[in-house]
Amino acid sequence: MDKFMIWGGERLRGEVEISACKNAVLPILAAALLGETPSVINKAPWLKDVDTMMLILQAMGVTARRSFEGDITIDPTTLQSWEAPYELVRKMRSSIYVLGALLGKLGKALVSLPGGCVIGPRPIDLHIKGLTQLGATIEKRHGYIIAEAKQLRGARVFLGGPFGSSVGATVNVMLAAVKAEDVTVIESAACEPDVADVALFLNKMGAKITGAGTPTVTIEGIKELHGTQHEVIPDRIEAGTFMIAAAATGGDISLLGADPRHLEAVIVKLREAGVEVSEEEGTIRVRSTAARTPTDLTTLAYPGFPTDLQAQFMALMTVTPGVSRVVEKIYPDRFMHVGELARLGANITMDSNSALIRGGTSLSGAPVMASDLRASATLIIAGLVAEGETLIHRVYHIDRGYVDIENKLAKLGAKIRRLKSN
Ligand code: EPU
Repeated sequence: MDKFMIWGGERLRGEVEISACKNAVLPILAAALLGETPSVINKAPWLKDVDTMMLILQAMGVTARRSFEGDITIDPTTLQSWEAPYELVRKMRSSIYVLGALLGKLGKALVSLPGGCVIGPRPIDLHIKGLTQLGATIEKRHGYIIAEAKQLRGARVFLGGPFGSSVGATVNVMLAAVKAEDVTVIESAACEPDVADVALFLNKMGAKITGAGTPTVTIEGIKELHGTQHEVIPDRIEAGTFMIAAAATGGDISLLGADPRHLEAVIVKLREAGVEVSEEEGTIRVRSTAARTPTDLTTLAYPGFPTDLQAQFMALMTVTPGVSRVVEKIYPDRFMHVGELARLGANITMDSNSALIRGGTSLSGAPVMASDLRASATLIIAGLVAEGETLIHRVYHIDRGYVDIENKLAKLGAKIRRLKSN
């Protein structure tokens, strides 16, 4: 397995191009199944998770190809099977999107149940509830979800759960409802820009979805969808990660291609922490200042501060003098990074889903272990600040969700190298 070696102490400076959004492109690739003709996703991000979704579609007989420029063509006319096997689903939870897409397309699906996850329990009860309300019969047997529906029928579906709305359940219900009879209304829908982008893609295919990106989404079922062309929104989590890295290293960077409208909560928090953030001609500039201040944070569903940036923000607070508190409201157990940050010298005390950070300790490089995608990004940020060498093991996690991160960071002045495994 590849590792990253980082020599800390460099301030990030310069420009970085933000890639297309992982959490939008994955459901969009599954949504392309619903068309009667091929779809093209332009400039899809070069990520392991995208490769996995393409393999899942290919395993079902779909022709999925990527061009040299990164455009992915999905031809659903060659679809032969409605099974998403365990060997692929276990690699990536968002494989669950083929459940809604296959139900919408064929009225049946056999999808391996996604298993546990290092960021905590990730149930799919809301997905199942929503799809059942559209008329699907769903059984779980031998580790698989077996779903069937003679005719999906629109319904009112409430998708609020104990931790708020669900991105995945909202998308899965949308995918199944676009070709259902009558009208579906999703209440307490997830408002993430990713959901709105999937709806935009489906509408380009001929679907009739309104309200996506708000808590009430209305879907008028139609008989047939056609293929289309689409460029996915920029990745707000990748953008936020670079913004936080710039702040932590005392840097000054400009993000090209990010959408500041998707980053409001992050910008507000960074400003509260004494970081200068400005928008200039389509770029977001982030300048760290000497007056950084400890800042409390609670993660919430969009438009709140994203759980996917909680760990990275904690790295920033670790190197900011003073005491701050981070509360995780989406995944109460998403704190695997805390122990590894402590190996670098962080002083963090946990109490249930809340972390108390006594910041301003000087970090010193050490070997650390990445546990998941966002935790890996956090260790990179900490390594960039730490004195000496930080060796990050298991960087395959980061290849799932960050495009070419070491080269993007190196262009900004970071001293980072990938050590290839044999
Ligand atoms: N939940 C339920 N029941 C369900 C579904 C979710 O209780 O049936 C709970 C979850 O346990 C969690 C909350 O609802 O507490 C929100 O989960 P959600 O369904 O919104 O998460 P997801 O769709 O599985 C996506 C992203 C995650 C991101 C979350 C929250 C994708 C592929 N994944 O997951 O991204 O953390 O939304 O914003 O879109 C990442 O990119 O690193 C990542 C983990």
